[in-house]
Amino acid sequence: MLPHSLFFSILFSFSIAHQIIHLNELKGNGFKNVIDVAPPFAVYFSGASDSEEDLKEIHLVTRDKKKSFYELKNEKPEEFSSRLSPFHVSSTAEITTSLEEFTELKGFAYIVSFDEIAEKCFRVYDVDRFEVVKTHKDVNCTLVFLNSNFHLRYPPSTKISNWHQNELAVANLYRGVPSQEKTPVFSNPLEINGKSVLFIPETFSLRFEAFYIRTSNHVYLEVQPGHKSLHKHTTSGYTTTGFYMRKIGDPHERIEMICVRDTRFNGTVGAVVSGHMPSNKGSIGLITDDEAVFITPKKEKKVWTTELADHLTISAKDTEEGEFFVQWFIVQDLQIAGTQKPMKGAGKGASGLNVIVQVLTIIFFSYFN
Ligand SMILES: *[C@@H]1O[C@H](CO)[C@@H](O)[C@H](O)[C@H]1NC(C)=O
Ligand SMILES: *[C@@H]1O[C@H](CO)[C@@H](O)[C@H](O)[C@H]1NC(C)=O
Repeated sequence: MLPHSLFFSILFSFSIAHQIIHLNELKGNGFKNVIDVAPPFAVYFSGASDSEEDLKEIHLVTRDKKKSFYELKNEKPEEFSSRLSPFHVSSTAEITTSLEEFTELKGFAYIVSFDEIAEKCFRVYDVDRFEVVKTHKDVNCTLVFLNSNFHLRYPPSTKISNWHQNELAVANLYRGVPSQEKTPVFSNPLEINGKSVLFIPETFSLRFEAFYIRTSNHVYLEVQPGHKSLHKHTTSGYTTTGFYMRKIGDPHERIEMICVRDTRFNGTVGAVVSGHMPSNKGSIGLITDDEAVFITPKKEKKVWTTELADHLTISAKDTEEGEFFVQWFIVQDLQIAGTQKPMKGAGKGASGLNVIVQVLTIIFFSYFN
């Protein structure tokens, strides 16, 4: 087995170890669409919106096996799970179909080299149903999520809720599949004004067909297809964070959030912004009751902070051709001198729940980069 794959990797120069192959980009009529990744590799398939009939007509052909994409879609450790099992390929492989017309297919295969998934905790999920995702204390995990679900109003859209993590845990969320993107679009904890702040993130949605989360220690979250609208959203705590993004071509919208606040305390409202605006035009506005800033999203993150406010609005101008990602946050700080002591019970919950950990996330960021 080994000399054989060695032979192939010398013979051909294969491209990157992680690949997404959209079914609608294949050539049909029996053409051999060769997978351009050095064996051994694993194949995962997400095809939530494609018909069983079509998927049975598309095949992955290796030297000794032939699997339909319908079988690949159901390659799972448990029937009712959204977790996918890797389909191992140890030779070169190709995708073939006798279909002639399949531009309507939404499904895609995720190909990853074996070395990459050899790590202790590498998991791939198809965002097709509700799933609880938990990681454990002693392992660092890479959790990859694929979403080909087009049954929703904003496809593909993934809703993440009930995110909790241990105070020693670090979680960073990236778009795409591992190795494509290095800067997280969402982090917990987040470094704000030199302090590492651990949040209980609010429900948010992502519009990526693929994204991944790298975790250390215990992290819990619930993932399902869905969309969470933030307009008129009331924040859930005095210290909290959430996420908002826009994809290329998304309709214009202005979202205004109501920030729950205890006026006896000071603190910070802010956002980490990144994105890509072709031609460098387009800006997003971050607006509170007292301040407004306009930023053209770039690949490098930009952090903006201001004082606590009752409202936070995110607006966009001329951004239709680009995309942007905003991790917004609110951090309650100290009680302002001269204000009344909190009554027994009042406010206690929020400040007790939201632990501020003094760990430099920079260590973690550099580890992941
Ligand atoms: C809150 O007030 C304290 C004491 O006045 C000050 O040290 C701290 O920097 C303030 N925090 C913010 C975020 O303004
Ligand atoms: C997990 O990652 C952290 C950095 O985020 C590292 O310090 C630690 O050694 C890793 N733990 C394991 C078990 O690999």
